[in-house]
Amino acid sequence: MRSELLTTSLDSETTQKNETQPKTSELRDKIAALDAELAEVFKARFSTAPFLSRKTVSFQGNKDKHAYGWYKYKEAFSAGLVEFVLTSYNGRISGKVLDPFAGIGTTLFAASSQGIPADGIELLPIGQEIIRARLLSEKELTTNDIATLEHWTTYFPWKGFQDRIPFSTIRITENAYPSETVEAIERYRGALQQENEKVQAILCLTLLCVLEDISYTRKDGQYLRWDARSGKRRPGTKAFNKGKILAFDVAVTAKLKEILSDIRDAELPVTLFPVKQNAANIRLFNGSCLEVLPTLETASYGAVMTSPPYCNRYDYTRTYALELAMLNLTQAEVLSLRQEMLSCTVENREKDLLKICPEWKSFIDAANQQKLLQTIHTYLEHEKASGTLNNNGIPRMVRGYFSEMACVIGECARVLKPNARLFMVNDNVRYAGVSISVDMILSDIAQTFGFEVEKILVVPGKKGNSSQQMGAYGRVPLRKCVYVWRKR
Ligand SMILES: C[S@@+](CC[C@H](N)C(=O)[O-])C[C@H]1O[C@@H](n2cnc3c(N)ncnc32)[C@H](O)[C@@H]1O
Repeated sequence: MRSELLTTSLDSETTQKNETQPKTSELRDKIAALDAELAEVFKARFSTAPFLSRKTVSFQGNKDKHAYGWYKYKEAFSAGLVEFVLTSYNGRISGKVLDPFAGIGTTLFAASSQGIPADGIELLPIGQEIIRARLLSEKELTTNDIATLEHWTTYFPWKGFQDRIPFSTIRITENAYPSETVEAIERYRGALQQENEKVQAILCLTLLCVLEDISYTRKDGQYLRWDARSGKRRPGTKAFNKGKILAFDVAVTAKLKEILSDIRDAELPVTLFPVKQNAANIRLFNGSCLEVLPTLETASYGAVMTSPPYCNRYDYTRTYALELAMLNLTQAEVLSLRQEMLSCTVENREKDLLKICPEWKSFIDAANQQKLLQTIHTYLEHEKASGTLNNNGIPRMVRGYFSEMACVIGECARVLKPNARLFMVNDNVRYAGVSISVDMILSDIAQTFGFEVEKILVVPGKKGNSSQQMGAYGRVPLRKCVYVWRKR
């Protein structure tokens, strides 16, 4: 009897698998055919760009660049990339540059240094704070402010400071620092209240720049990795040792000296009184580009240079949790920020895009009508129903990503002047064994908004997949590209 039951259940399982598999391979074949069709359409637009290295399109390229390297924002691209683009199109960019996903402001500062005014939009408070402090460091510091900051590197005024100011802790940042470091941070936060707003901003920037080094954590792919000394360990994982954890005083002093040295080397206009030279050059909107873009004037920008979050499950609010807590965000605020971010994690719920802007219906329709994308959605829903996805939030995330990106691209088309270009760095991704050609899908959608796809520059050295994908489906190279679209 027992073995009979067992056979029946095995049989039904096998039957189920046999029923799903032909559909799976049919959908995969359809995706491959539609992908090949689109590749044929864009064949002449693709080119490998030997002058673009992985280093140039990533933060690595900023390592030795004054100010750009103060805060390690791994998701940034390099100032060199922005300078390269602006130089290549020299004379063909008339008017302001816009970056709707400004990060730590690479586009803004690189454009401004070439005399081009730039506007940025950024939602994550850490990016906003880095940009704010850097702007102050460039334009508003006086000789007195510099002398005060030098005093901090020599006399450590936080040591023994009585009025400690605690900082917020959210669930994932509990026990992130040794107890003596917590005490030092609180004294530092207390002592900096004695200074003027500009000096405070630089001291706060310094603190944000060293948080990872003085903590038990390391930013690692999609999450924070915890050193075993913290007492935290994910069940079933090997004990991790991040190496030397810097003492607070050492880390802060070294970083502040680096910042001051860069300010001096850059020969910025540090004078007895603030010089608001080129103050109109850079403007930052703090908030979601989905909310801010519709408020910008039509045909008012000479170029868009940007890199949106990739559709890769990367959660900025987790990776930058230490910084968000230091900026006093509460648990509830971090959760709501996560939902506001462009959908690229499995936790993102669907956004009501038409509520944000009723005129976006045609943008959303364009995404819904893109054939390759629709087949990918069908395939992912099918895999979800078959229980083969490693996370059931993947179909919703992919759908949200492309709908929201369609709205962002549609808005960029609206705010660009005729003939102006949009430059975008983005990665292709892979889910459930299927590569998603983000480059061609977005380019195809962009065409329907009046963009001409001039080039899709492929960065040499193709990127692999996540370890989960590689284990299950083998390694398939994924393209990283810079798209160049011109508004017709
Ligand atoms: C790939 S990073 C861009 C980095 C930038 N190019 C730089 O060099 O610093 C994408 C950025 O988009 C931001 N972001 C995500 N959702 C957003 C939204 N809805 N509105 C504005 N910015 C958003 C993220 O916080 C992140 O800083």
